[in-house]
Amino acid sequence: MRILYVTGEAFPFCKTGGLADVAGSLPPALAKNGDQVAVILPLYGQIGQQWRQQMTFRRYIYVDLGWRHEYCGLFSLESRGVTWYFVDNEHYFARPRLYGEFDDGERFAFFSKAVIDLMPSLDWMPDVLHCNDWQTALVPIYLKDVATRWPEVRRIRTVFTIHNIEYQGKYGPETVEDLFGLNRGWYDGGILRMDGCVNLMKAAMLTANAVTTVSPTYARQLHDPAYACGLEQVVQLIDYKLSGVLNGLDMESFDPAHDASLPQTYDPDHMEGKAVCKRELQRQLGLAQEPDTPLTAIVSRLVGHKGMDLVCQGLGGIMATGCQLVVLGQGEPQFEDTFRWAQSRWPGRVSAQITYSDNLSRRVYGAADLFLMPSRSEPCGLSQLIAMRYGAVPIVRQTGGLNDTVRSCQVGQPDGNGYVFSACTAHDLCQTLGQAVGLYRGDRLGFDTVRRRGMTEDFGWGRSAGAYRRIYQDLSRRNH
Ligand code: GLC
Repeated sequence: MRILYVTGEAFPFCKTGGLADVAGSLPPALAKNGDQVAVILPLYGQIGQQWRQQMTFRRYIYVDLGWRHEYCGLFSLESRGVTWYFVDNEHYFARPRLYGEFDDGERFAFFSKAVIDLMPSLDWMPDVLHCNDWQTALVPIYLKDVATRWPEVRRIRTVFTIHNIEYQGKYGPETVEDLFGLNRGWYDGGILRMDGCVNLMKAAMLTANAVTTVSPTYARQLHDPAYACGLEQVVQLIDYKLSGVLNGLDMESFDPAHDASLPQTYDPDHMEGKAVCKRELQRQLGLAQEPDTPLTAIVSRLVGHKGMDLVCQGLGGIMATGCQLVVLGQGEPQFEDTFRWAQSRWPGRVSAQITYSDNLSRRVYGAADLFLMPSRSEPCGLSQLIAMRYGAVPIVRQTGGLNDTVRSCQVGQPDGNGYVFSACTAHDLCQTLGQAVGLYRGDRLGFDTVRRRGMTEDFGWGRSAGAYRRIYQDLSRRNH
């Protein structure tokens, strides 16, 4: 099968969040199964010279969008069994940020339309277009729209994956014709319309042949108004074509046995290196050099839906467990400030690294004994998987993908790989962290068993790639 994966970001070229990791690792995993796979994404200004040097210019076309007639270049490079296509238009993509620009609607409408118009210029016409999040939500709609005049594309099936339902792409009704270049019927008929606005995510959910999200638990939670951000009725309507496929982890990139960022590598049978990682990080970050004090880490965007308010409220309780705390990330100023304050309030025991750094994050995972991830909502989550792989026992809230990957080793659970709490309160967070610290201090062998379970589990992409493949195959079978 020929699959074109459409995304707003992909690691290692550009990244703002977990979508980039998925788009960077799922397509190569699909290609390993024998399918032909290509990825298409915007050629952002942020994409570095080391990648541009490897790109070949393929051709250019002009893309029509409403009254606009825009230059659109196509570059490509080959890597890990996949062709990576880049859509060039400097006016739209040479910007300070990937998203968050005043004209994001226009930028990603251009990108989505370009994907459709460029299809005949690719090495092959796809059987499946796999789109992700609101930035590419117009692709299934444009495809249906052009299919009325372009019969060859009628056989192409579309998959739409929701990585986070919070960002839906909402615009005023006047954008339908002027900005998106679509017939007003797409709005009046109710596909694009939601609460008096254009809602791109809703339209993709209705139009795509299959809708997936990134964990089975999140797929269930999307029926609940508390998680669906207003789209619960749409979810109900498309339930027959909705499924949850758990994301994987790039087991090669995230491997403490071969991670060049670590001061010393280690594996489940040779854990001495982890002690070195801990000592080194304590030294570098000015924490007390105490090998037997459990080191708790948070690596996260510092925002409310990641549960940072619970951590800030619970700081007293967290420190009362006797652990050390390292926080790495950036986000809302009130959380950044609270963690900076905590560092001065508990010198030698708290370190606030208010920055984004891939290298430092790996050293933090390498050093940590415990990993705190108290998300209010978490479609899948990657950090808990990295933490387990690096031997940091995760303490997570029971939601979304956290619920599908962390098994609680609280009373009566013999195969636990972490700790889980369900109520969204600082009290429950601290109590659960207290239990984990208790195990670390009171029963180190027991703790090491839990740690080892996480380190040896297979979180690789194989299983998920198989699940997507079945979805693609089902769709193309239904075609005939
Ligand atoms: C979003 C979600 C996160 C998920 C990622 C990749 O960033 O918030 O939970 O892991 O997408 O699917």
